[in-house]
Amino acid sequence: MSSPLLRDRCPYRLDGSAADIHGEAAALRALGPAARVELPGGVPAWSVTDPGLARRLLAHPQVSKDAHQHWPAFLNGDLPADWPLRIWVDIRTVQTAYGPDHRRLRHQLVPTFTARRVRALAPWIEETTAALLDGLAKAAAAAPGGVVDLRTHFASRLPWLTVTALVGLPEAMRDSFQTINDTVFTTDLTAEQAAANSAEAARLLGDLLALKTEHPRDDVASALVDAHRKGMLNERELADSIWMVLGAGYGTTANLLDHAVVNLLTHPDQLDLAVAGQVGWDQVVEETLRHQAPVASFMMRFPTEDLHDEPTRLTFARGDALVINYAAVGRDPGVHGVDADLFDITRATGREHLAFSHGPTYCLGAELARLEGRVALSALFSRFPALELAVGRDCLTPLPSLIFNGHREIPVRLEGNPHS
Ligand code: HEM
Repeated sequence: MSSPLLRDRCPYRLDGSAADIHGEAAALRALGPAARVELPGGVPAWSVTDPGLARRLLAHPQVSKDAHQHWPAFLNGDLPADWPLRIWVDIRTVQTAYGPDHRRLRHQLVPTFTARRVRALAPWIEETTAALLDGLAKAAAAAPGGVVDLRTHFASRLPWLTVTALVGLPEAMRDSFQTINDTVFTTDLTAEQAAANSAEAARLLGDLLALKTEHPRDDVASALVDAHRKGMLNERELADSIWMVLGAGYGTTANLLDHAVVNLLTHPDQLDLAVAGQVGWDQVVEETLRHQAPVASFMMRFPTEDLHDEPTRLTFARGDALVINYAAVGRDPGVHGVDADLFDITRATGREHLAFSHGPTYCLGAELARLEGRVALSALFSRFPALELAVGRDCLTPLPSLIFNGHREIPVRLEGNPHS
């Protein structure tokens, strides 16, 4: 007999390779404020594309993110054993907790992200950015045709260095943590590779926790170790929270920088406005977040009881899986007009996006990511005014992820093309 999941086929099958996130978002929007979808692995869910409905669900006290308590498909063993998205609901962190557990786990992290602490990071981020731009220039000088991958050398490197400093990873551990972090969400590993990764992840984390226990510092890892010692979080939550913060601060902000650079390079009139100071870098950041939500969709939420939404007249059953489609929400024509698909840093509604979520799960790193965006973009374009893409925009390959919206690589020339 087939499992209930397989019998209950969904009407819109999402493309696991995420080749066209916005084309898919438009098709889902046409199906209504929320559409029934099938996630990779044949798992049914709703994809929520309407901004009003998304806000109401994000703030609703009867909507949980804890699959361990509130997702029957997870609890009953209905999911395929090798379900590629399992890690997103299985981990035990603030990102997958509900009610008092969510408040308890969020409370441990809040002090790291106060406005004062984020502002204090600005000089460090500026210095690190300048050093990375030096490195980029060196890499370009050594590369055939002067073509370098801006994603590797800059867009993802700055967020990684920032989040590892915040967490308190010693320099010697940075690269090994990055290798594991880069593979942990990869869905095409063999069972042996996945097992080897888990063993390596546990070993690295063990080393880090031992270090922070013996030599605590003013960093996230030390604060979490201390909270664990005081009984505020268990061992699994401690381990998962460290990986979660590293992941949450890295690929997300890399995608923001990635899309901002690509959009500006392909809209030179807008780049001119930003470089001339006629439009602030903060507006560039907000319009990028709206136009290319770095977290395209998030896995996942579950009503703890049947939930009727009167404005849309939709009813979600207890335990239905809900995916908030932040990419679709950012381009809603009802909010942003008929040209919602266009990148326009002068747009009056640029700040009206939900790219950092809303309500109790509002992103803790939002101000840090905004700061990194402003510093990185202004420094990059002032240092390399002739920066250009080395391939056509259509040749850039999207990341194969329903969740992370970015490119695999951004080949650029720093000094423009000498032959053009
Ligand atoms: C442009 C960059 C970023 C974007 C677009 C982003 C987006 C998001 C979104 C959409 C959520 C909520 C997910 C959901 O429940 O649906 C979230 C939560 C979170 N983010 Fe970010 N994020 C970014 C950067 C960061 C950074 C730099 C950090 C930390 C270093 C961070 C840490 C967190 C944490 C801890 C949460 C969980 C909050 C909670 O559940 O209470 N994020 N982020």
